[in-house]
Amino acid sequence: ISSFFHLLRFHLFRLGMSSVAALGASIICNKIPGLAPRQRTICQSRPDAIIVIGDGVQIGINECQFQFRHGRWNCSALGEKTVFGRELRVGSKEAAFAYAIIAAGVAHAVTAACTQGVLIGCGCDKEKQGFHQQEQGWKWGGCSADLHYGLGFSKIFVDAREIKQNARTLMNLHNNDVGRKVLEKGMHLECKCHGVSGSCTTKTCWTMLPKFRHLGFALKDKYEHAVHVEPVRASRNKRPAFLKVKKPHTYRKPTDSDLVYIDRSPNYCEADPQTGSAGTRGRLCNATTQQPNSCELMCCGRGHDTHQYSRVWQCNCKFLWCCHVRCNTCSERTEVHTCK
Ligand SMILES: *[C@@H]1O[C@H](CO)[C@@H](O)[C@H](O)[C@H]1NC(C)=O
Ligand SMILES: *[C@@H]1O[C@H](CO)[C@@H](O)[C@H](O)[C@H]1NC(C)=O
Repeated sequence: ISSFFHLLRFHLFRLGMSSVAALGASIICNKIPGLAPRQRTICQSRPDAIIVIGDGVQIGINECQFQFRHGRWNCSALGEKTVFGRELRVGSKEAAFAYAIIAAGVAHAVTAACTQGVLIGCGCDKEKQGFHQQEQGWKWGGCSADLHYGLGFSKIFVDAREIKQNARTLMNLHNNDVGRKVLEKGMHLECKCHGVSGSCTTKTCWTMLPKFRHLGFALKDKYEHAVHVEPVRASRNKRPAFLKVKKPHTYRKPTDSDLVYIDRSPNYCEADPQTGSAGTRGRLCNATTQQPNSCELMCCGRGHDTHQYSRVWQCNCKFLWCCHVRCNTCSERTEVHTCK
């Protein structure tokens, strides 16, 4: 998927963005694998946004890979099974995280593109322009991020693939919302002083998007505390109507800031496409740590292989008058461990 966008970006760069329309939206949109029918329609009406959406998905996947770099599950299955690809047919905690971070990624990328003025139909938040915040002594200025637009776009586009009426759909929609909510909570105010030599006679402020890394940590924390839920069917109706916390004798619904999951996670030791597990064979591990990336935990007791190699580089370089540089050669033996 990402290489497809790479290629698409390359072509669009050569043609210039204005040629998207000339290239034919339907050609572009029909070539993107795995779009749900409604997503294809959105793509055709907003071809300018599809690149930005692709960026957003990629930001989400990259952050997922960073957050889970030491885990047995490392987002590997996400590379090809994104909102654009085949859906993750699992209801695990990991899927919950993946959906939330991608929904947040799309909203973040679209909002950022609006601020940069590269998307049609949006820009700075018009509601935050020129008005005074009398009590606080500042007024809106600069370009406030139009988060509303980005969130709305994410909701329309990302949620459009949830067409089945089953428990996983409820789970995915819930987690998409959690991702967008975390983004919303991460918005902050940036201010600047104006006046003679920074005297701050007037102060202007604008809202800014949070760094995506910040959202990654916030969602990782929610992942650690994800809530196990089960579907509740309305009587006679076979479709699940809503999700409730999976505990006997309770009808509490999960809060809208909890990530939710319906299936227990596999241990991700062996490859299994059914559960979205890539297995840990060949994964790098650390032989001296107690962390989750230790060879013991990462390799699930199968043991590990050790590869030794030496690294050689120029070191202790000195500048000699005049004019050359003399260096020593340093070397280091390195061991790398990978799971059997
Ligand atoms: C994730 O793990 C798989 C093997 O289980 C490996 O092939 C892949 O390169 C890893 N991905 C990342 C981003 O580390
Ligand atoms: C392995 O873990 C130890 C202790 O956490 C750390 O000091 C070391 O740098 C790690 N090694 C590698 C290759 O990451």
